[in-house]
Order: sequence, then structure tokens, then C-alpha cells
Amino acid sequence: MNYNARRVNPAKAIYHKFIPESVRNPVGMARRRIVDRFTRLSHSESLPPPELLMNVQMTPFVDEFIRIGERSARSIQSALQPCVPAAAHVLDFGCGCGRTLLPLSKTTAWELHGCDVDSEAVAWLARTASGDRFRVNGTKPPLPFAAESFNAIYAVSVFTHFSEAEQYAWSAELARVLVPRGVAAITTMGDGVIENFPAHVTPENRARLRNCGFLFIEDERAFNARAAFHTLGGLTRLLSAEFDLWQHYERGLDGFQDLTLFVKR
Ligand SMILES: C[S@@+](CC[C@H](N)C(=O)[O-])C[C@H]1O[C@@H](n2cnc3c(N)ncnc32)[C@H](O)[C@@H]1O
Repeated sequence: MNYNARRVNPAKAIYHKFIPESVRNPVGMARRRIVDRFTRLSHSESLPPPELLMNVQMTPFVDEFIRIGERSARSIQSALQPCVPAAAHVLDFGCGCGRTLLPLSKTTAWELHGCDVDSEAVAWLARTASGDRFRVNGTKPPLPFAAESFNAIYAVSVFTHFSEAEQYAWSAELARVLVPRGVAAITTMGDGVIENFPAHVTPENRARLRNCGFLFIEDERAFNARAAFHTLGGLTRLLSAEFDLWQHYERGLDGFQDLTLFVKR
């Protein structure tokens, strides 16, 4: 998920207007490769290899991984901190190679756990964060955790790619592993964000999102290429069997995805 799509930089707009795409693309890629090489050389901590980054953000660039991870961790921490005690057990559902979890582990005292279907990302994270707190899960529930294992769960950019059936199935499963009154923080793409995906902006898709509160665009190439959009009403309906809506922060994940907190009923 590219969070940068929303920012309009005047210098960049002029560059885009006057320099043809055939020149811009190779220049831009060369610049990003240099920044990437420099970031990897200058960073003292271990960083995930490009192929793991592709599965998380669809680009191989590590500066993007660091920048987005730090912002995302800040958003999750400020939303959850008022209601999740310091000693809480918190699950990062769909943690990938720890883009959000690693920076969050530096700024909170929560006992952080992670799970993902990507076994290589989980193995890398387990080595890097040196813990026995990371698990691989299947593409369908259940998760490899006992009932009521966690005080809180967050899922960053995961429900943004689930089909409607998967939204129901995983919401029930997250509820199973949460304690009663536990909190789930789910990020989603709201109806304004669809403008960042010109191919999906059709009258039919807009009408579907408006009328059903949910729109899913299938794409068989990759999990991250699928796109799910939710209105708040649509998201609340999908999770309503297990959760009550508690707080909604429109574009609360660093100004791009919505961040919504639910409490297990
Ligand atoms: C866009 S990435 C976001 C990763 C991470 N949450 C972050 O913000 O960096 C989506 C992640 O969801 C994972 N994923 C896909 N299906 C999943 C499932 N059924 N259960 C857990 N994780 C899943 C993918 O492997 C990928 O790591």
C-alpha cells in the first residue's frame, strides 16, 4: 500500500508537468536505488531483504519501509495507548516483516506478538526481533493462539485486501483470540481513498461502495493487489456479529487509511 499517493508537492507537480514520463521514470528509479543503497549501508539495525518488502508494500525500497512503519506505529500507539495497559499482550495480525511492529516495539512496553501467512517474513522477524512471539497462520482461520490470548489486536493494511467472506471469517477469529472487552484496531480505505486508484473509479464501483458500504476488487496477481474499500457503516456491519464500534479516526493511519477501534462484545 503506497501511503504517499495522497501528498501533493508543488515542485513535484512542476517536474511532472514538464519532464516526460519516459525520462522521469528511469531518473526516479535511479534516485530511489541510490537512496535505498545509502539507507541500507548507513542503518545499524538489520533490515528486511527487498523480496520481503515486495510482499508488504509492493516496492523493494527500505527507506519507504522505515518511514511508513514509523508513521504507522505512531498512529497505532496513539489510538491504543489510552485504552491498552502497559503490560498488555498485543497481536499484530498480518505483521509481515514487522514494518509497524518493529518501530512500535521501541516505543511501547506492550508484549508484542505477530502472525502472518508469509512464512519467510515471519522467520525473518523472529530472527531479527529474537522472540518466540511470531507465528505463521493459514489463509483461513484458526490462528495458532488459544482463545482470549490478547488484550488488543491491530491489523494494518490487511482488511484493505480481504474479500467480504474473509472479512467475516477473520473478524470472528480475531474476536476469539481477544479477551472480553478487548480492542481491535482495524485500518481500512474509506470512500475518499478510492480516488487514489483511478482504475477502480467507475460509476458502478462508486454506487456499490455507497449502497453496500463495501467494495472489493479482486486481483489474482497478489494479495496486496486486491483492494477493499469500506465506509464506516460497511465496516461496522461486517464486524457487527462480534464487535461494537468504539472510535473512528478518519484517515487516522498517518492521514491515509481510516483507523477504527472496535470492542469485543
Ligand atoms: C499490505 S501488507 C501489511 C503488512 C503489515 N501489517 C504492515 O503494515 O507492514 C499485508 C500483509 O497481510 C498478510 N496477510 C495476507 N493474508 C493474511 C491472512 N489471512 N492472515 C494473516 N496475514 C495475512 C500479507 O502476507 C502481508 O504481510
